Amino acid sequence: MKTNEVLEAIKNRRSVRSFKNEQIQEDDLNAILEAGIYAPTGMNYQTFHFTAVLNKEKLEELNRRVKNVFAHSEDEHMKHRGENEAWNFYYHAPALIIVSNEEIIPSSGLDCAVALQNIFLAAYSLDIQSCWVNQLRYTCNDPFVRELLTEWGVPEKHFIFGCAALGYNSGVVPQTPVRKEGTISVVK
Ligand SMILES: Cc1cc2nc3c(=O)[nH]c(=O)nc-3n(C[C@H](O)[C@H](O)[C@H](O)COP(=O)(O)O)c2cc1C
Repeated sequence: MKTNEVLEAIKNRRSVRSFKNEQIQEDDLNAILEAGIYAPTGMNYQTFHFTAVLNKEKLEELNRRVKNVFAHSEDEHMKHRGENEAWNFYYHAPALIIVSNEEIIPSSGLDCAVALQNIFLAAYSLDIQSCWVNQLRYTCNDPFVRELLTEWGVPEKHFIFGCAALGYNSGVVPQTPVRKEGTISVVK
């Protein structure tokens, strides 16, 4: 099988869910954000927005508000998480990049997903670990969650399609999940 630095990064990146209490460096963050904006977008619209939150207290306040929405959910799994004192949706990562876009644009969610993968790979290349965290998708339109997002610069019309939790790994790097058979077809 052919390999190179990019192919190795694609294969070796893992979702990490335990982070050191140490902020990532500003030039690394800037490089990661730049990787996000260089992602392809449908019709080259580039309507996405990246909001990087690096403040521990602000992130904890966001976690409280997200958990409050979960605690009132009719879904048992979500409710359990919301009521769990220890649960933190971004795994106490020191940095969270919130990726948002105008919902009305057909490719907006896809554009955000592509940008997030660029972010994960750029982070990996800089020895920074990452995990996609999805909980703002379900909670971004709650008025108390939205209040914080707006304060931080997320455009009002934007939906949150995903977030990247970022930081240095504090524990064991997870094993590579086994790749399922039969997900590729080649027609010649
Ligand atoms: C759309 C999407 C949503 C995800 N949401 C979460 C999430 O909310 N929390 C989490 O811990 N991991 C989340 N993940 C990470 C997946 O669980 C992870 O990618 C998968 O288990 C494979 O592991 P790997 O990333 O190490 O290859 C998400 C991944 C994707 C693509």
